[in-house]
Amino acid sequence: MDLEDSLLKEFEEFLQTNLPTKKSFHPHFEAAMKKMFSAGGKRFRPLLLLNVVENYTPLLVKNAFYPALALEMIHTYSLIHDDLPTFDNSPLRRGVETLHVTYDEVTATLVADALNTDAFLTLSNSSLSSDTIVKLIYELSFGAGVNGMVLGQALDCYFENQKLSLEELMFIHIHKTAYLISTALKMGAIISNLSKTRVDLFGKLGLKIGLLFQVVDDIIDATKSSDEAGKPTNNDTNKNSYTNLLGVEGANKKRDELKEEINQLLDKLDFSMKQRLKNMIEKYL
Ligand code: IPE
Ligand code: IPE
Ligand code: MG
Ligand code: MG
Ligand code: MG
Repeated sequence: MDLEDSLLKEFEEFLQTNLPTKKSFHPHFEAAMKKMFSAGGKRFRPLLLLNVVENYTPLLVKNAFYPALALEMIHTYSLIHDDLPTFDNSPLRRGVETLHVTYDEVTATLVADALNTDAFLTLSNSSLSSDTIVKLIYELSFGAGVNGMVLGQALDCYFENQKLSLEELMFIHIHKTAYLISTALKMGAIISNLSKTRVDLFGKLGLKIGLLFQVVDDIIDATKSSDEAGKPTNNDTNKNSYTNLLGVEGANKKRDELKEEINQLLDKLDFSMKQRLKNMIEKYL
């Protein structure tokens, strides 16, 4: 088992036992809160965070599990909303039926709302200094809210059926996806107490990796089967996506260019950190 697999396994166990839930007489709300987490998911964002911490301050990895979980909760809430009929109207996610299909839209919306709020409750439970926790709250809310993911999703949905320029598409992708990925690396750097210059470098690198991530996601939508993706593909035909604007060939070219730009930034990192990120890019992108 390589380092990254053991980190993933340990984090997965932590996630499954530390997800906030509460028993009540609601017939399915508790099960609905858990469903999207037991379904799977690559855990790409928490793994980025944990890899930074493990590289620089291995003794703090366990303390980083709560922040990593908070980040995965925010990401999962964004997926539940993304699949709702008013967003992308998707019946399948992580290989299982989406919450609004299994239950109803009220349940799906409220599970996502709870995750969005409880992510910050989870973050506040971390065994880290108050100063670090405040910095993490800042990064996570910045990447997830109107400065990041939410604005990207608003633009993505509003401009469905309207062709945008490449520059506008890039703005959407950076906001809806890249910010939260950049947040993951920055949160890791903050937990490891790295200098501001280092945190900023991880932020910049994260935006590039995040843009690459969404370009690859667009390519998956255009070229893979629903079974391979665990979610419906060919679902973005009315969307502004790299494949719709540039074709699959053009999107592949953009992917290669981004990989090259990322490699140049990776050279500014120390060898072991660079290797960790290279492995993750190779595995997932
Ligand atoms: C899907 O994210 C949404 C995008 C930002 C493209 P992931 O591809 O990380 O989804 P999971 O968490 O593995 O299901
Ligand atoms: C979603 O982008 C980005 C989010 C913020 C959730 P997509 O709509 O392309 O994600 P998938 O393909 O449904 O996972
Ligand atoms: Mg979407
Ligand atoms: Mg979608
Ligand atoms: Mg997609």
